[in-house]
Amino acid sequence: MTSARIMIVEDEPITAEDLQEALIQMGYTVSAMVSTAADAIRQAERTRPDLIIMDIHIRGDIDGVDAARTIRQRFDIPAVYLTAHADAETLSRAKLAEPLGYIIKPFQEPEMQATIEMALHKQSIDRQSKQTQERLSAALGAIGEGVITMDAGGSVTLLNPAAEAWTGWNQIEALGKNIDDVFAIGPSSIGPIRLALSEGDLAGLNESCVLISRDGAKRAIGGSVAPIRDHNGSVTGAVIVFGEAKDRAAADTFAPAKTATSADDFQMVVESAAMKRVVNFARRIAASEVSSVLITGESGTGKDILAKYLHYQSRRRGEPLLVINCAAIPETLLESELFGYEKGAFTDARQQKRGILEMAHKGSVFLDEIGEMPLAVQAKLLRVLEEQTFRRLGGLKDIQVDVRVITATNRDLREAIRQGRFRLDLYYRLNVILLAIPPLRERKDDILPLANRFIESFNQRYKRQIKGLSPRAADLLLAHDWPGNARELRNMIERVMVLEETDWVQPSSLGLQEDSEEPEPDRADLASMPLHEAERTMLLRALEKTDWNQTEAARVLDISRDTLRYRMKKFNLKPAETSGV
Ligand SMILES: Nc1ncnc2c1ncn2[C@@H]1O[C@H](COP(=O)(O)OP(=O)(O)OP(=O)(O)O)[C@@H](O)[C@H]1O
Ligand SMILES: [Mg+2]
Repeated sequence: MTSARIMIVEDEPITAEDLQEALIQMGYTVSAMVSTAADAIRQAERTRPDLIIMDIHIRGDIDGVDAARTIRQRFDIPAVYLTAHADAETLSRAKLAEPLGYIIKPFQEPEMQATIEMALHKQSIDRQSKQTQERLSAALGAIGEGVITMDAGGSVTLLNPAAEAWTGWNQIEALGKNIDDVFAIGPSSIGPIRLALSEGDLAGLNESCVLISRDGAKRAIGGSVAPIRDHNGSVTGAVIVFGEAKDRAAADTFAPAKTATSADDFQMVVESAAMKRVVNFARRIAASEVSSVLITGESGTGKDILAKYLHYQSRRRGEPLLVINCAAIPETLLESELFGYEKGAFTDARQQKRGILEMAHKGSVFLDEIGEMPLAVQAKLLRVLEEQTFRRLGGLKDIQVDVRVITATNRDLREAIRQGRFRLDLYYRLNVILLAIPPLRERKDDILPLANRFIESFNQRYKRQIKGLSPRAADLLLAHDWPGNARELRNMIERVMVLEETDWVQPSSLGLQEDSEEPEPDRADLASMPLHEAERTMLLRALEKTDWNQTEAARVLDISRDTLRYRMKKFNLKPAETSGV
């Protein structure tokens, strides 16, 4: 049983003694028993109990509510009221002390005990979340970009040391102040911040943005403002990540540090305004020392590539980036992969093994499909994020690591939370820095540049010399909905590159027309094609429709077999060796 220390404030000796006896019976320690507010405050300071049971109408000029309030404010010790009064006025005044319970006399022991247990529990949770907040600010403490968070009303909730240096405000003074006072920017300050708070949009700071520090100094800055959402999806605040204004030319290249080698290695295409906002934000995050990042986006939107970008843009680029897909590994294996184990931790553990958290020391770990991580592992991960320590399986020693944990999910974590499969505290920890990649259909400006990038890289891989997209093929790509996002586009281009027989990707090669709901797509697109392309397309369609049976295809086209053969040769049309790739 618990040995929580409880102070009794009660001016009726008989009740006080009854209560004392009951509490001791329940296994608590009574740290003090007093009958006036003044004594209560004095004893609270001296003996620091875990909880106070407080009568409301007590002797002296200060009543129980004021005493409880003072003690709460000064020492953060909560109270449970025990009183004979439950009138509206007393009840509403009682709230001032943020009490953790209210019991009407005469008390029943089971009810008293249940109330005390709940109160102690609530208090410990509150403490933890306060500590989490403190650790979070500590985690944001290292060098790099300024980070400021605010609540939905625009009051500052956190300011990292870099932000303190930039703004001239220290965190303690800034907390609770309006963001416009602490982060005074011109020419039009409110735009992006209001946009994040009211619309939930990721916004970039104005190009010509100037930060006016507390002492009046003006400096050009760049940065992003991102909304913070709770697990119901409502915007509960925003985070600003900012720093030196980078020169525009440098800011517009999205190639990672020169580590990419093979043609398959990543080079991110970032053309659309929406994607530029995300990647600019990511660049700032990379440079800041934010220790955890969550990337969300539908499947194939580029979460992997963005995770790499985050790593290679950070000062961690010289150290490893290690990846684990949480959905692909069984629970026990996931734990040992992450944390490692000591010799003898389980039957097969013949040797000590280091986990990827250890191996990635000073680098980054990418946990893909974080929503699939089992709850037990989530608890351990939370500790890593908060304290940067963990133990190997079967280990007794805490191991300290310096890792950035990048996580990603294509699922709705909120749904996982509702189903009890994802910890709320972990969600809140991860969600502070959220990079949400929009689906490809919402950033159409990226479609053609992506297609061209893929053509280039497959030209190399397949030793081809495809020059690009025919205009009509480009139109089809732009009109498509891309449920599989960039990956779908990449796969489509890969297939086309293997099959395409002309120098330019032809619309018919894309295999997209079938999706079209238009009644007569053939005629419509043929009409807008150059003649030779239309001819080729008609031939190809007829051949495909007839499974490359030349006699039938010739009949469909109403031409002779010889003419068909001649034209097939002219356009270099052959049945595909590989189909349906
Ligand atoms: N902006 C981009 N520039 C270049 N290539 C991209 C871009 N976005 C995605 N790709 C490419 O598209 C493919 C899918 O991207 P990626 O694997 O990063 O998606 P994902 O969001 O991690 O998908 P999943 O949810 O299925 O894991 C990859 O081959 C990737 O290289
Ligand atoms: Mg992925």
